[in-house]
Amino acid sequence: LKMNNKLLLDHLRCVPDWPKKGVNFRDVTTLFKNPECLKEITEEMYDLYKDKGITKIVGIESRGFVMSSALALKLNAGIILCRKPGKLPCETVQESYAKEYGKDTIEIHKDAIDANDIILLHDDLLATGGTMKAAYDLVKKFHPKKVYANFIIELVNEGMNGREAFDNELEISSLIKI
Ligand code: PRP
Ligand code: HPA
Repeated sequence: LKMNNKLLLDHLRCVPDWPKKGVNFRDVTTLFKNPECLKEITEEMYDLYKDKGITKIVGIESRGFVMSSALALKLNAGIILCRKPGKLPCETVQESYAKEYGKDTIEIHKDAIDANDIILLHDDLLATGGTMKAAYDLVKKFHPKKVYANFIIELVNEGMNGREAFDNELEISSLIKI
């Protein structure tokens, strides 16, 4: 596995002061539009998870959906959509979490995961960890055999310490640390 892959770093766009002043936004759409980057991300993720027996990938809305799809096909796994409230048509299980201002909620269909599943949670980016912690707590309510989490990008040098939100039971990997 190539750590801090130059191809990906060279293609990642950073947008200063978006969505608000002081945020340096890492824009993965410039990776997604490039076929070589897409292939590189897919293959690195496949190498990480090919021997883990993953049965379902839980993609976090919305940028987490993209690579969940590519990887699920390679791993022969299914894809579960973890969504913002009110988007899924059937009965859901929810988890609420604190954001910078106020509260947010995410949800998964109640029949999406069972106790035989080995789950890979996937999102484009780990910042504070708030979103993934909520997704992890949500998935644990289904009592799957094992849970992993993966990101394309992990912010480590901006005082975020997203990993600290999690217990030792969750194995976390990322392709680029910034
Ligand atoms: C971004 C990103 C992660 C989350 C990371 O999503 O895609 O899901 O924030 O931040 P955290 O680690 O501090 O929780 P966003 O809320 O912008 O949603 P979107 O993908 O639907 O645009
Ligand atoms: N990119 C995408 N999502 C994010 C970022 C970012 O830089 N920071 C917090 N959420």
